[in-house]
Amino acid sequence: MTENRQIIIDSLPKGRLEPGNYALRTVEAPVPGDGEVLCRTLAITIGAGQRAGLQGSASYAGAPRAGMVMGGTAVARVEASNDGGAPVGSLVVCPAGWQDYSVHQAAKVRIVDERGGSGGDPAHHLGVYGTNGLTAYFGLFDVGEPREGQTVLVSAAAGSVGHLVGQMAKIAGCRVVGVAGGEAKCRLLTEELGFDAAVDYKSPNFRLEFKEALPERIDIYFDNTGGEVLGGALRRMKVGGRIVCCGVVSQYDTSNPAPGPRGVPGLLINFRVRMEGFLVFDYAKRYPEAWGRMREWVEAGKLVPKQDVFEGLEKAPEAFVDLLAGGNVGTRIVRVAS
Ligand SMILES: NC(=O)c1ccc[n+]([C@@H]2O[C@H](COP(=O)([O-])OP(=O)(O)OC[C@H]3O[C@@H](n4cnc5c(N)ncnc54)[C@H](OP(=O)(O)O)[C@@H]3O)[C@@H](O)[C@H]2O)c1
Repeated sequence: MTENRQIIIDSLPKGRLEPGNYALRTVEAPVPGDGEVLCRTLAITIGAGQRAGLQGSASYAGAPRAGMVMGGTAVARVEASNDGGAPVGSLVVCPAGWQDYSVHQAAKVRIVDERGGSGGDPAHHLGVYGTNGLTAYFGLFDVGEPREGQTVLVSAAAGSVGHLVGQMAKIAGCRVVGVAGGEAKCRLLTEELGFDAAVDYKSPNFRLEFKEALPERIDIYFDNTGGEVLGGALRRMKVGGRIVCCGVVSQYDTSNPAPGPRGVPGLLINFRVRMEGFLVFDYAKRYPEAWGRMREWVEAGKLVPKQDVFEGLEKAPEAFVDLLAGGNVGTRIVRVAS
């Protein structure tokens, strides 16, 4: 028998998420049926939006329940196949969840390039070429519509989506300001990733520093956080600006999300601002366009994807809790097997 370790949701969080909301169990690995493949998980990615899923039906991410294997996207190796389209040995991206082995319809897994696009690491299929890279690309270019010389503000700027948004906005010729928690993250943004300025939202002088970093106000605010940063951005938008509503990470790790900021819709009217939510999955037909352009940028060294790695499936709950507390830089990856 092949053992399959699984991390299950033991209880839904009542307040902040804790590692104790999860449990490890071992079951027998599943067997693929007709047209199915057995996938061995190599690495999973953990994104902030998965915490919204644990809040229940209010989220686009669905409603997980206690006793279920925690959901998540993985890069995996096909170990057994009953479909010629995905032969044994293929490297695939699939919705494996937090477990060693999973079975999928062959048509539902995506075979990916062995080179991994950057540094030969297959985990980049979960970062820059995964959902968060695509989210950065379509949110910025399609919803934000950046033009050369414009000012782009991005929150959770050192996170998986945010660090890619900022670099893409630089590629588009914009002035880029990031908001992140802590001096070290702010330094990384300006010194390593080419941001023009970065503001620490945990600083006691945040309001003043925020204003000083945005002397010409904001053309595009790429909002990953909602909350106070959104409140501040609303007051500094330029006439005709766009607010790209990507996510609300400041309100995920709680059972009582705060109401939205003051000034909606008044400030939107005053500044004639378009505030628009989007879901990356609506752009699925155009993913190849984004992969092609991002690969060019990565290979030219213009887009530097960052990963933040935990080793071992059993570390996934800790890696998730730490992400919500701001522990990550770039895309959080949990390596499960080599
Ligand atoms: N619309 C879509 O289709 C779509 C798709 C994918 C992801 N998303 C959204 O994109 C956003 C970013 O997701 P991600 O996976 O890339 O996560 P991430 O930014 O890598 O990680 C979350 C980050 O949020 C920051 N944070 C935590 N609590 C905060 C608070 N109270 N206020 C401000 N910042 C806080 C932390 O950084 P600090 O150290 O800076 O606090 C943390 O590192 C999420 O809102 C997610 O839901 C949307």
